[in-house]
Amino acid sequence: MAYDITVNGTTHHVDVDGDTPLLWVLRDVLAMTGTKFGCGAGLCGACTVQLDGVATRSCITRVDSLGDAAVTTIEAVGATAAGASVQKAWLEGQVPQCGYCQSGQIMSASALLARNPDPTDAEIDVAMAGNICRCGTYPRIRAAIRAAAR
Ligand code: FES
Repeated sequence: MAYDITVNGTTHHVDVDGDTPLLWVLRDVLAMTGTKFGCGAGLCGACTVQLDGVATRSCITRVDSLGDAAVTTIEAVGATAAGASVQKAWLEGQVPQCGYCQSGQIMSASALLARNPDPTDAEIDVAMAGNICRCGTYPRIRAAIRAAAR
């Protein structure tokens, strides 16, 4: 089946089964490998992208469910105001350790700041609760989000 999906402002015509997860369309069809596979079950957040600005787990999002939603990935989130602030804060705060989860962390943090430019610590914790980091970079993630919000 063929689907037209808009990723980072460009519409792509992809020929895949409707139940193909968006994650694999991004990585295997469109060669956008910044979005990572972790659990494949919607539990870890490594695969987070934004659908119309909302943080979404691409591993459990079927391509046939996208409709007209605009997909934003880590490859282009820096072109948004919130994404640029978050990426700058991530660099200045030296947030990553191994780095594997960090594109998902940045996508969730950017979605949070785009809808709530000055979140409380509790709001940060709620927004980021679905993004797991095995290296335990959570204190640096919170600090970077606070820095990006300034
Ligand atoms: Fe999608 Fe873990 S890979 S939530």
